[in-house]
Amino acid sequence: MSEQPVDDMVVTPWDVSGELDYAKLIEKFGTKPMTGSLLNRIESLVGDLHPMLRRGIVFSHRDFDWLLNHIEKHGKSDFVLYTGRGPSGNTHIGHLVPWQFTKWLQDKFDVHLYFQITDDEKFLLDPINRTYAQMQAYAMENAKDILAVGFDPEKTHLIIDSKAGPKFREVATTVSSRINFTTAKAIFGFTESTNIGMIYHAAIQSAPCFYPSVLLGRNIPVLIPAGIDQDPYWRATRDVAEKLGWYKPTALHSEFIPGLGKGGKMSASQPNSTIFTTDTPKQAGKKVKRAVTGGRQTIAEQKELGGIPEQCNVFSWYRTIFEDDDSALQKRYEDCRSGTLMCGPCKQELADRVVIFLEMHQSRREDVEDLVEQTIIRE
Ligand code: TRP
Repeated sequence: MSEQPVDDMVVTPWDVSGELDYAKLIEKFGTKPMTGSLLNRIESLVGDLHPMLRRGIVFSHRDFDWLLNHIEKHGKSDFVLYTGRGPSGNTHIGHLVPWQFTKWLQDKFDVHLYFQITDDEKFLLDPINRTYAQMQAYAMENAKDILAVGFDPEKTHLIIDSKAGPKFREVATTVSSRINFTTAKAIFGFTESTNIGMIYHAAIQSAPCFYPSVLLGRNIPVLIPAGIDQDPYWRATRDVAEKLGWYKPTALHSEFIPGLGKGGKMSASQPNSTIFTTDTPKQAGKKVKRAVTGGRQTIAEQKELGGIPEQCNVFSWYRTIFEDDDSALQKRYEDCRSGTLMCGPCKQELADRVVIFLEMHQSRREDVEDLVEQTIIRE
């Protein structure tokens, strides 16, 4: 019904829209699909698999096999994690999902995490409607959400671009010296009207791939768990890494979390189909109950034909974050298909879970307030 041609799909670091086809994205970005044998290797290193791995939500990678070879030789903690957030507004649940996965990686592999907050980028992206000061304020607010996910504060380092120190700048400058404008245009699609700050930002986002090596005084591999939309940055980074004497960064790509409306990823620009971490539990519950589902027009029809979980964002929220138990998820799927489970109770149950989740997140968010200052890297 809402079928759009796949060509409508837009996935860039600044825009994700249209009907997402993950197999096409692997082809388009030139990455590799996640495989059962890679999953087996993770499981034998750490003992189990996160639901996002078991369920194929982490669907693609760059050189993850290389990283596994490396740690099988040098020990499972011989790498660091790098991920990030562009603080253009309040955090929503779609952001927390990959961060929860990142926390799992941090716990299981017992590694340090470098978390970049690109307040500069978010200002440069829209300098007419935003101010740098606003984005810096969001950076500090978002930092609380990040830490509320439960990262180990002793092993977590926030890089807030506007506050980054001289060593960080040195890495960014070094990277920028090796990327020419022709390459940048080809990778990022910059045009004559792109402001030059955005062009330099490629080096700023690349820098955390090498910065840990500089801080540690030895070359250490970096694994980036992120959405595939950020991949162009890693492509540019990988092109220059070895020339500069550093390892190429490796990446794991996860699916986007849909909003509660029709199609598309969860987005702050559609506040009614997005749950922000700052929503009151009551507001959040209401939004869930208004969600578009994969259900039929009438209850009679649904009893007869069953719902379509594949086209249901409510089901997708259970799959990605709100149901850890595989057999409960499978049962929900079957009960929906068979017409036993109606959308009303299914949404109500999700709303209840979302409310509990939000209340917990919000109380943790208050608890970590004092940790923000101590986790920001100060050189
Ligand atoms: N550019 C990203 C955004 O707008 C933020 C970011 C910086 C990031 N470094 C990253 C995201 C590394 C993932 C991984 O959201």
